[in-house]
Amino acid sequence: MKSSSNVPKIVPHPSSGKGISEEVRHLLSGQGEAIPLFKVHLVPEVLEPLGRTLLSGYIGQGPRVDEFEKALVPWLGNHNVLALNSGTSALQLALRLANVEPGDEVISTPMTCTATNVPIMAMGARIVWADIDPHTGNVDPLDVERKISPRTKAVMAVHWAGYPCEVDELDRIGEKHGVTIIEDAAHAFGGTYRGRPIGSHSDFVCFSFQAIKHLTTVDGGALVAKDTESYKRGKLLRWYGIDRESERRDFRCEQDVAEWGYKFHMNDVTATIGLEQIRHVDDVLRRHRENAAYYRERLTGLRRLELLAYQDDREPSYWLFTVRVRERDRFMLEMRKAGIVTSQVHARNDQHSMFAEFRRVLPGVDEFAAEQVSIPVGWWLGEDERAHVADTVVRLCEGAA
Ligand SMILES: Cc1ncc(COP(=O)(O)O)c(C=O)c1O
Repeated sequence: MKSSSNVPKIVPHPSSGKGISEEVRHLLSGQGEAIPLFKVHLVPEVLEPLGRTLLSGYIGQGPRVDEFEKALVPWLGNHNVLALNSGTSALQLALRLANVEPGDEVISTPMTCTATNVPIMAMGARIVWADIDPHTGNVDPLDVERKISPRTKAVMAVHWAGYPCEVDELDRIGEKHGVTIIEDAAHAFGGTYRGRPIGSHSDFVCFSFQAIKHLTTVDGGALVAKDTESYKRGKLLRWYGIDRESERRDFRCEQDVAEWGYKFHMNDVTATIGLEQIRHVDDVLRRHRENAAYYRERLTGLRRLELLAYQDDREPSYWLFTVRVRERDRFMLEMRKAGIVTSQVHARNDQHSMFAEFRRVLPGVDEFAAEQVSIPVGWWLGEDERAHVADTVVRLCEGAA
């Protein structure tokens, strides 16, 4: 998108005086002169099958969705895959399948996208914040266990930046206390934990195929369930509770619906995009990981910068490359001056007004949130770009602390 002349201007909402500025849109589009933090990965090969699906006369949930679910199986290490319209829907459906009801408690992390925690509110449940490991950004299982009460129904665990959290420990806690473990793997497509893909561990695992993820379908998501009964129930609840596979006397008119559900299903248009995109995701992941390995070598031992403490029993997907830096504001400004976009990406959720009643002391979150920032790591960085990023970070962070 070189010229914005035929793109409608975003008009600020009259009551707020604010809107998504051209600059923010430009930065998010990854089309600016600076090295972007995110970029949409869409292969031209989608156009032909997409055109066929669009003009096929059937664009709702159909055979392409089934095919896309099958294509996801080897990546997620689980046959119980439900393709949905977003990662947020996957999270809400997981909470519903965990039988979370109004007044129940869900233990979650504030260090994530608001999309992790808004579905808990939508279920009328109460959020209990767990603290995080300030050296990874991931939830601390010890604190999770400490916060379990008789009202706890579920735990939400996020793989920050695509680094898998302590899944075995969380699953052990879930089993011991009869609590459902839900992984929000929106950052972690393609990650592995102790030799097995993210998707094959906990009770439920949720993925996002939103615009800037490793695998995008424009918008979309998936929920995988460990247990087949939950998968079957989820299949009904993703579409109002109606059984699409049941025999009908009238082709359009359903029989009895036993339990109400949502409109969360994926459609054949986005599934067609996913089917092409997934053929390239291996390459996308490889490039994120190669750039990350390069940074981990170049950025070790700097005085003002701390690399996150990753263990080698798991393979991160490196959707982000997060570091901790002293004097973050100055660092971000200097990076911008060098033509490199950086961001905190997600604000700690516990400080949002909508979650005010759940606030509590979280020293790990305080420590991490004060210093964390992500630098560009994605498939769009060639050797020159990543060298420029590393040189700039070294220049800014090697001085006295
Ligand atoms: C950690 C996390 N959880 C959930 C979501 C929500 O996914 P979606 O946008 O597909 O609803 C996102 C991102 O969009 C995310 O980053």
